[in-house]
Amino acid sequence: MKKNPVVAVVGATGAVGREMLDTLVRRNFPHAEVRALASSRSAGTKVEFGSKKLTVQELTEDSFNGVDLALFSAGGSTSEKFAPCAVKAGCVVVDNSSAWRMDPNVPLVVPEVNPDDLSWHKGIIANPNCSTIQMVVVLKPLHDAARIKRVVVSTYQAVSGTGQKAIVELENQVRQLFNGQEPTNSVYPHRIAFNCLPQIDVFLDNEYTKEEMKMVLETKKIMGDDSIRVTATTVRVPVFYGHSESVNIETEKKITAREARVILAQAPGVRVFDNPGEKIYPMPIVAAGEDDTFVGRIREDESIENGLNMFIVADNIRKGAALNAVQIAEVLLERNLLRVS
Ligand code: A2P
Repeated sequence: MKKNPVVAVVGATGAVGREMLDTLVRRNFPHAEVRALASSRSAGTKVEFGSKKLTVQELTEDSFNGVDLALFSAGGSTSEKFAPCAVKAGCVVVDNSSAWRMDPNVPLVVPEVNPDDLSWHKGIIANPNCSTIQMVVVLKPLHDAARIKRVVVSTYQAVSGTGQKAIVELENQVRQLFNGQEPTNSVYPHRIAFNCLPQIDVFLDNEYTKEEMKMVLETKKIMGDDSIRVTATTVRVPVFYGHSESVNIETEKKITAREARVILAQAPGVRVFDNPGEKIYPMPIVAAGEDDTFVGRIREDESIENGLNMFIVADNIRKGAALNAVQIAEVLLERNLLRVS
C-alpha cells in the first residue's frame, strides 16, 4: 500500500506558513506527519494545525531526514541555503520564494495553467509571485481563445504580501495616527497607512522594481510563451489581505466582453463577479478568505481594435501563496511525482 507523505512546512510561524498549515487541514491533504520548522527564535513555540498544536522546530540541515515533501515560505536566502539540503535528503520542495523561479531547471507552476510542467521537476518546484498567479489564472483561458499579444497591469497589493511584520506595521500606524502620534515605519520606506507606495521590492537598472519584473518574466515562463509582451506597475496599498489588479490585454483575435465572461465562467479557479448595475465587482473584502480568483469590470478597450480591460482580485496569502503551493503538492501526489519512501 502507498504510504502517506511526511510533510514539513518551513516558515511555519509566518503569515504564509500558518496559512499553509491551515490549507493542508482544510483540503485534507494526506500526510503521515507534519513538521513545523522556523528559525531558532521560534523553536519550542506552538502553531495550530487543525485541532492540534505542533511544536516548532529549528530549521537545520538535518531537518529533512525522513521528510517527503517540504513547503518553503521563509524568504529567498533560507530557500537558497536549505532547499538543496532537502532535495539531497530525498525530499521534494515547493518553494514560495523568488530564489528558484527563473532557474531553467525549476518548473514554475500554477496548477490551473501549466500542471504538466511538474513532470520535469528535479526536486524543486517554484511557486510564482502572488500577483502573477492571480493574473495568469485569468489570462490563460483568454490566451487559449484569442492569443494575448500584450498585457498592461497595475497592482494594488496588500501588506500581508510582505509578511507578518508589515501587517503589524499598518495596524500600529493606524493606531498611532488616531492617537495623534507620529507614525513609525521600519518595514516600508514610507508610511503605508492612508498612503500608496509605488515601490514593491528594490529598483533595478531598468528603473522597474523587482516585483514588476517578476510579473513580466514569470508570466512568460508559466504561460510557456515568450512572445507575450508584459509591462507592470506594482503598488502597495493599505489593505491587509487581497491583491487587486487592473489588467489591460491586447489580443490577436477579437474577443468581446460577453465572450470573455463566458470563457472565464468555465475557467478553473476563476469566479466571474461582474454586474456593474448591481455594483458587483471584485474587491479585497470580497476575495479575502476565499480560494477563487475574482474577475470583473470586464469591458472592451475602445482605444484599440482587439482589447479588454478587467479587474482581478485574489487572496494573496491563499491563491497567491499557500493554496497554490498545496495545489502543486496535490498534483505531485496525484501524478506520483513525490518520492514517498
Ligand atoms: P521566525 O518566526 O522564527 O522568524 P513572514 O513572511 O510572515 O515574516 O514569515 C517568515 C517565516 O520565515 C517565519 O516563520 C520565520 O520564522 C521564518 N524564517 C525567517 N528566517 C528564517 C531562517 N533563517 N531560518 C528558518 N526560518 C526562518
